[in-house]
Amino acid sequence: MNRVAIVTGGTRGIGRAICDQLTADGFTVVANYAGNDEAARHCEETSGIKCYKWDVGDHAATMDGCARVAEEVGPIDIVVNNAGITRDGTLHKMSFDDWNDVMRINLGGCFNMSKACFPGMRERKWGRIVNIGSINGQAGQYGQVNYAAAKSGIHGFTKALAQEGARFGVTVNAIAPGYIDTDMVAAVPENVLEKIVAGIPVGRLGQAHEIARGVSFLCSEDAGFVTGSTMSINGGQHMY
Ligand code: CAA
Repeated sequence: MNRVAIVTGGTRGIGRAICDQLTADGFTVVANYAGNDEAARHCEETSGIKCYKWDVGDHAATMDGCARVAEEVGPIDIVVNNAGITRDGTLHKMSFDDWNDVMRINLGGCFNMSKACFPGMRERKWGRIVNIGSINGQAGQYGQVNYAAAKSGIHGFTKALAQEGARFGVTVNAIAPGYIDTDMVAAVPENVLEKIVAGIPVGRLGQAHEIARGVSFLCSEDAGFVTGSTMSINGGQHMY
């Protein structure tokens, strides 16, 4: 069965690794991205994966974008909600926009994508939704009230939607990555990051492909009995 998968924020970092893994595992994969046209061009050129541009935090754009993917590629069977941003800062310095952008994109994006794709999965009696949460949604993180709240929300969203999808063959799971070697983590000040890595029992940052393998398992036929779960992939930094 040729399943169609969409990965939000799929042209770079963890999202790109997920696209490559799902392609290798036999899925028809498309990537969504919001702004970086150069990364999208590079992704298309090096992988052949079709990239669609819209902001997952924009409800109407997401509904339109998913309809376009379904028309051009086929009904969407698998959604990987990976798109996310950081706007780190301690609360007393954080603006409302920093709060709102992170909630709108990281958590609102999960709602918008699910709203667009879940009804079709439910009708066809098969679907996989994998939400990328975070260790910082599980444990909190200094300077991230916005990001921790949005990621924590993703974990709650996952458990709620899993209950709604179960009867219809639609599983909904989350992966909670720890600190992965991506541009997002590279933006953390060096002295802060050194301390974080010192607290990871495995003694290193994770690699994007280590998250992608987990995602691919959750998307597989074999994972039909796994729903509402959170897979922590964090080098032992937070055992939850
Ligand atoms: N616990 C307690 N105190 C801490 C602290 C901590 N974890 N981290 C910093 N502080 C203290 C500092 O020691 C400093 O104290 P003094 O002034 O007394 O020396 C004070 O807090 C600094 O506070 P400021 O408000 O001035 O902070 P800042 O503006 O300099 O920087 C920050 C704050 C932007 C949050 C910076 O610490 C930072 O970038 N931290 C990393 C946040 C982080 O881990 N982000 C993850 C991004 S990657 C990601 O999110 C992916 C994923 O899913 C894992």
